Amino acid sequence: MRKIVIFASGSGSNAENIIKYFNINDEATVVGVFTNNPNAGVIERVKKYNIQVEVFSKSQLFESEFLQKIALLQPDLIVLAGFLLKFPENIIADYPNRVVNIHPALLPKYGGKGMYGMNVHRAVVENKEKESGITIHYVNENYDEGGVIFQKSFQVAGDDSAEDVATKIHELEFKYFPEVIAGLLELKTK
Ligand code: GAR
Repeated sequence: MRKIVIFASGSGSNAENIIKYFNINDEATVVGVFTNNPNAGVIERVKKYNIQVEVFSKSQLFESEFLQKIALLQPDLIVLAGFLLKFPENIIADYPNRVVNIHPALLPKYGGKGMYGMNVHRAVVENKEKESGITIHYVNENYDEGGVIFQKSFQVAGDDSAEDVATKIHELEFKYFPEVIAGLLELKTK
């Protein structure tokens, strides 16, 4: 059984979608969810599935005990699903090409510090972009700069609000993120 560990800071709709997807796949499962935000919606969402959720502080994230805690779960893949802190280099070093992030825009556009969630969609609408989309990429030491694994775009309509763009992005994320994860884990059944 392949093991997935998820990091999330917010509502956790992607985390829940990934959990559900792999609940009906006997080749991989989500073994733990970590969040830096004690008020994050992801906590309540994950509880339903009997999966360990751990809240940590920003300073704990960079301690060696934290690395050991992750190692105990023996993850084959670490998935950042709406995780807003810079990911520690010591974890990336221990899991080469096994830490992936989803970004709600077509990187390298609209990436970098401060570019997350609605900030991205507002900027896309303000700049009257004709298209936006999702990027799934490896995580390296710089925000949103690791190698791109997958992108999917859609046309932004002239009257789309930032909220409309967010909804369309979530639809793409829900459809493709679990499939890309299954591909990275080389699962036979998707
Ligand atoms: C997702 O749209 C994800 O792409 C984005 O945050 C949202 C989290 O939604 N991530 C970033 O902006 C990372 N820079 P969720 O908590 O409902 O899954």
